[in-house]
Amino acid sequence: MNTVAKRQVMSLTVNGDTYEVLVSPRQTLLDVIRGPIGLRGTKEGCATGTCGVCTINNEQGEALLSCLTPALEWDGKSVTTVEGLEADGELAPIQQAFVEFGAVQCGFCTPGVIMSAQGLLNSFHKPSEDDINDGMAGVLCRCTGHIKVKDAIRDVVKKRA
Ligand code: FES
Ligand code: FES
Repeated sequence: MNTVAKRQVMSLTVNGDTYEVLVSPRQTLLDVIRGPIGLRGTKEGCATGTCGVCTINNEQGEALLSCLTPALEWDGKSVTTVEGLEADGELAPIQQAFVEFGAVQCGFCTPGVIMSAQGLLNSFHKPSEDDINDGMAGVLCRCTGHIKVKDAIRDVVKKRA
């Protein structure tokens, strides 16, 4: 006998807006965010937890790999994607620092790199060099080598009281 996993309605709040979506047990948060919710800022690279370009922030503001997270486990919860960082038309400090330091080249990894950096900055008010290296180790960038990225993060940290 073939069994077909049943789809279920789930509730997910993304960047403060709540969506009710029909989800199959096989779908990930990345599938739901890019699919029925239609926010394409979060990128899909490896889809196996290796590249980090799908990184978003969880309810505690920590970095979360959306390609590895079964969507139904997040029923009733909230996430933040790169589209949710700016406020009132103003870039978040990490976004502004990326612009100022030229931390973007081809841009494919940039949403995941920014959300990893934001997760780090949410977790540590004044991250050390080791914290920065550890916090950014899970996301790959073939263009920048993370040099300008880490300069941008250090600038945000330096400006914090
Ligand atoms: S898409 Fe590569 S870690 Fe998620
Ligand atoms: S800017 Fe091109 S992969 Fe990171």
